[in-house]
Amino acid sequence: MEPMETIVKKVDKNQIDHTVIEEAGRILREGGLVAFPTETVYGLGADALKEEAAKKTYAAKGRPSDNPLIVHIADYEDLKKIAVRIPPETDALAAHFWPGPLTMIFEKSDIVPYGTTGGLDTVAVRMPSDPIAAELIRAAGGFVSAPSANTSGRPSPTTAEHVLADLGGKIDMILDGGAVDIGVESTILDMTVDPPMILRPGAVTAEMFESVIGPVTVDQTLIDSSSTKPPKAPGMKYRHYAPRAELIILEGDLREEILAIRQLSYAGSRKGKKVGIIATAETLPFYSNGVIKNVGTRENEKSIARNLYRVLREFDEEDVDIIYSESFAAQGIGSAVMNRLEKAAGHRRISASDVVAKQKYRRITFVSQTDTGRGPMAAELLRNHDLEQEYVIDSRGMVVLFPEPANQKAEAIMKSAQMTLQNHTSQQFDGENIQDDTLVLTIGEDHKNKILSEYENAANVYTLNEFVGDDREIPDPYGKPLTGYGECYGVLSEMIDRLAEKLNAMAKGEENE
Ligand code: TXA
Ligand code: MG
Repeated sequence: MEPMETIVKKVDKNQIDHTVIEEAGRILREGGLVAFPTETVYGLGADALKEEAAKKTYAAKGRPSDNPLIVHIADYEDLKKIAVRIPPETDALAAHFWPGPLTMIFEKSDIVPYGTTGGLDTVAVRMPSDPIAAELIRAAGGFVSAPSANTSGRPSPTTAEHVLADLGGKIDMILDGGAVDIGVESTILDMTVDPPMILRPGAVTAEMFESVIGPVTVDQTLIDSSSTKPPKAPGMKYRHYAPRAELIILEGDLREEILAIRQLSYAGSRKGKKVGIIATAETLPFYSNGVIKNVGTRENEKSIARNLYRVLREFDEEDVDIIYSESFAAQGIGSAVMNRLEKAAGHRRISASDVVAKQKYRRITFVSQTDTGRGPMAAELLRNHDLEQEYVIDSRGMVVLFPEPANQKAEAIMKSAQMTLQNHTSQQFDGENIQDDTLVLTIGEDHKNKILSEYENAANVYTLNEFVGDDREIPDPYGKPLTGYGECYGVLSEMIDRLAEKLNAMAKGEENE
């Protein structure tokens, strides 16, 4: 295809410039392609009654031509011209949901070419609510076919910039009406069956239909991802809506999803991968590794729908290798969000609890007497190791009367090994430090015994030398000259090397405690 110049024109919904719409309408009437905003996503418009125009649409999108287009109308009377055997419930549905994010499928009339319907005898019809779309449809003669205005396989466009990035040079014009409102494509309802069947979930939900016309059914292939039957809407079989990077959805309770994503993003970053994370306003602070994006708030599923495709595109621009996503509540528009997310992931879902179970310890706490010398030294030594899994590494003292910085000689020894205890302040050990996911390693036998006798529920408490299988004691340098600290450092650093090896072997499942 010859590259062409794509004209981009800004249009304000609240004050539409009619000359721009006239020009766009003329392009469509002459068989050209114009992308325009709708309330769901941007559409790539063409004259729906021209066979040739459909061919151009498929070519610009790189879309398989067996995937039918939706015909957009602006006036309800026009439905009768393109559809036949329209069932009586249609009036009520249209009264409630048109103009709006609903597409209905009917038997087609003869004026609709097979090019538009991908060879089917049915036609999908939608009346969008965006005023720019409505005016454009009228200016084009009443019937505008419009798939989402993305390159086939990429996330649908929610801004004119997305359209330009995909289709610039391939289409005649883009009407830029700003970011769309809903962000996921319309609900598709098949009216040729009784009761009507949802073929693609969207902003109009099954409950909303039921309150108007009674029960509707849902295409089972949407629910059962292992189904081998093709979905009834041909477009739903493609892995579209997809970013270039591999996308994996974590499933479980939210706490586990966060832990699993932390674990996976740590492991990925360590292997040199650029990891993307789809998080929400509520969970954002829990992540630290990778490119972390806020897709919206869990208090309002609509915000997630609105941002999803933009976020997926941003990951493409930032060239991430793999994306991990939390799951979202499948209520209301949430079911459309989860449907698109699953398709983008090619149905790759993993159980968060399975991932979480692979990491026994998330925190390692070293315990000494005053938390000013050996404990903080051990913690800092371990932090300087390359570990397979991510741990919170800290230290506590059995007798800390007030917070103190680390011992100066300990700091001097650490400095000479390019480490520092400068940020350390001593802290008292307490019951909070006894947790299922915390490994407590004491410097002396006495510290361990004291913890075991004071805390009935204490599990995972070992002396450091016992845990790493070294029968030496860790020398107590307190009151000794710098050489005493040096000697202590030597023993500690060997034990911490061994500890790191052991933790890494445990992470790979090669060793138990
Ligand atoms: O919100 C939307 O519906 C957007 C905006 C632009 O209106 N359009 C949109 O179009 O999402 P598209 O082409 O990306 O998706 C149309 C879907 C495809 O899955 C297609 O297979 C299905 O509708 N479809 C179209 N005609 C059909 C028919 N006659 N029978 C079954 N499925 C049909
Ligand atoms: Mg599409």
